[in-house]
Amino acid sequence: MSTSPADPHLPTVHLRPPRNWINDPNGLVFHDGHYHVFFQYNPHGPQHANMHWGHYRSPDLITWEPLPVALTPTPGGHDADGCYSGNAVSEGNRMVAFYSAHRNDRWWQPITTAESSDNGRTWAKRPHLLIPEPPAGTTMYRDPYVWRQDERWRMLVGSALDDGRAAAQLYESDDLEHWTYRGPFHTSDAATGTGPIGWECPQYATFGGQGVLILSDWTPQGGPSHTSVIIGQEKDGRFTAATALVPLDHGPDFYAPALLKAPGEDRWLMWGWAWEARDDAWAHEAGWAGVLTLPREVSLTADGTVAQRPARELLALRGPRVLYGTGHVSRTEPVELGQVSHTFDLTATLVPDTTGTSGLRLITSTDGSEYLDISLDPTAGRLAVDRTHASPDTRARGGAYTAPCPAAARLHTPVELRVIVDRSIAEVYLADEQVLTLRFYPSTDGPWRLQARTTGTGRSEFAVAAWNLTPQDIRQEAEPAPR
Ligand code: FRU
Repeated sequence: MSTSPADPHLPTVHLRPPRNWINDPNGLVFHDGHYHVFFQYNPHGPQHANMHWGHYRSPDLITWEPLPVALTPTPGGHDADGCYSGNAVSEGNRMVAFYSAHRNDRWWQPITTAESSDNGRTWAKRPHLLIPEPPAGTTMYRDPYVWRQDERWRMLVGSALDDGRAAAQLYESDDLEHWTYRGPFHTSDAATGTGPIGWECPQYATFGGQGVLILSDWTPQGGPSHTSVIIGQEKDGRFTAATALVPLDHGPDFYAPALLKAPGEDRWLMWGWAWEARDDAWAHEAGWAGVLTLPREVSLTADGTVAQRPARELLALRGPRVLYGTGHVSRTEPVELGQVSHTFDLTATLVPDTTGTSGLRLITSTDGSEYLDISLDPTAGRLAVDRTHASPDTRARGGAYTAPCPAAARLHTPVELRVIVDRSIAEVYLADEQVLTLRFYPSTDGPWRLQARTTGTGRSEFAVAAWNLTPQDIRQEAEPAPR
């Protein structure tokens, strides 16, 4: 029932088809008793081109069923060169998808729609564009996000303005068909020349009276792209920020996340796109690129922080516990904790020594030369994930990345870590709050092992448990898409 793909880097519990290119999660919606996850998909190769919407569904966030490709570019149509990102809503027995219609001869993507009455197996595109023109003064425009609020439908569209600001544009509708432009919901401050020049994939969730707005930076000059989040209140179609924009994920390989409101619960789920941290030639050789993150629960803490943790359902992926270790470590000798498979879930409680950094090393080669370091620096108040020695192939990117510790973790007090590794992706959660996602490409097929380590002169305490995760049978190719 389970599959373990031969490519040692192809994840086994994260969603993606066995081959070819994927990017953004799209159209996340609960419909007909299933979570539906669509995604940007090129069924013809491992590069960004000719985007379709691939499709998976799950009754429980654990078992996933690939469904036929949902949206395919129509030759000669508005979306002839790509069905770009958007979302979907469940309305009676229909699923209605909103997406960005891409043509190579047009610099912006008008909003269009398609609907399905058979739970997403077949889709009928409406012939006309829903929003044929962006508002005046817009220089980039795409990625509709539709939600229901106060008995009306709302839509945000990512954009850039000709004065250099990034914006999320707001529309409203009573029937999903006729949309009225309400103006910019939120814009960046006046252009500084350093910030993003546009926002892609805006997403919006509410928690009581608070709104959480997620924005992915569009930096076409090849600058670093990342995703930020801001908390505030909406009134009369305008969002007033109560906080600064802060990174949503502190890792280098996370972008364009999308939200899904769990049915009948006050719970928001989120998937992101983890892109490759290796060069295009290698991705081409491997025949695939990109993976969706695991589903995360997004919440707002009492002190107004956007917190993330793995969806609680993921505990069901755990097999028997393979490792448990508790004790202390000093700088003279790391403590061997034991072996894990290449797809595992780990919890650690660390009481770091304040004179140095303390944490875990995942060793992925027999000689110990390849490793990923996850450590806490209690004095600086930082979590660091260092992949400098994690990928022996020089075509992979290295570097160390940090996330701020929540206030409580800065002292000499226990810090909770949760780490989920799936072959070439690591999602590192700090205190069920901050998260850092990165990709790495170990060379070996041998056993992996974990160590507790410290650089401090005192003692660091730890309690670590790990479970191997059961590979999921999600590798069937989606039904071939027509060319
Ligand atoms: C974000 C994005 C979207 C666009 C899609 C195209 O990664 O650039 O703005 O709709 O990807 O694949």
